[in-house]
Amino acid sequence: MIKITILTLFPEMFVPLNESILKRAQEAGLVEINLVNFRDYAVSKHKNVDDIPYGGGAGMLLKPEPIFAAIRDLPQVSHDRKLILMSPQGHVFHQKKAEEWSTHQELVFMCGHYEGFDERIRELADEEVSLGDYVLTGGELAAMVMIDAVVRLIPGVLGEEVSAEEDSHSIGLLEYPQYTRPADFEGRMVPEVLLSGHHAQIKRWRRKESLRRTFLRRPDLIKNLEFGLDDYSLLEE
Ligand code: ADE
Repeated sequence: MIKITILTLFPEMFVPLNESILKRAQEAGLVEINLVNFRDYAVSKHKNVDDIPYGGGAGMLLKPEPIFAAIRDLPQVSHDRKLILMSPQGHVFHQKKAEEWSTHQELVFMCGHYEGFDERIRELADEEVSLGDYVLTGGELAAMVMIDAVVRLIPGVLGEEVSAEEDSHSIGLLEYPQYTRPADFEGRMVPEVLLSGHHAQIKRWRRKESLRRTFLRRPDLIKNLEFGLDDYSLLEE
């Protein structure tokens, strides 16, 4: 069981986490998701959570007090709690990060909104993570994407028969092409080898197609790969 807490000013945005596989995972007790609106911790009469930047400049910044108070008020259920700050200035999220987080007992996602946040908020975070090299209106959508990627890796979430091990990215390659019936769809044929029942050849074909697809579509992924001798012979074919 992983406990996930989301600190946000917009808890009503998180409806998608209560659908489909994520809903089932919560009902099965594999993950618990809690939403905390840190506006509840604002000190001023008007419950202000943002303010103008010192030194001038456009936009508003999240104030430190409400988010510090919200974190201090969280019950810590485990010693390997990870505090994650959503920010376009963080490291870019990827599958390996999802795998690592899925082994933790407790994850806390801190979502900013507005133009940015007071620099002292960074102190709270074990990690600062970005969804990608673009700027969102807030960290909420980024947190939902990351939570989805993490939760599906928790053992039991995808069910016995489905495995995340052969997903695109889990071995650093894109997934090979897949086909289902019919074998002949309006003249477009399923590759012969897949119909052959020859497991060793199918495995070889799939590895080769994964490599091909990765080379063509995502050459940037290739530098992180470790190739086996078999791969070199496949590439020479
Ligand atoms: N907040 C704004 N932009 C973001 C991004 N790219 N990733 C995570 N949080 C963000």
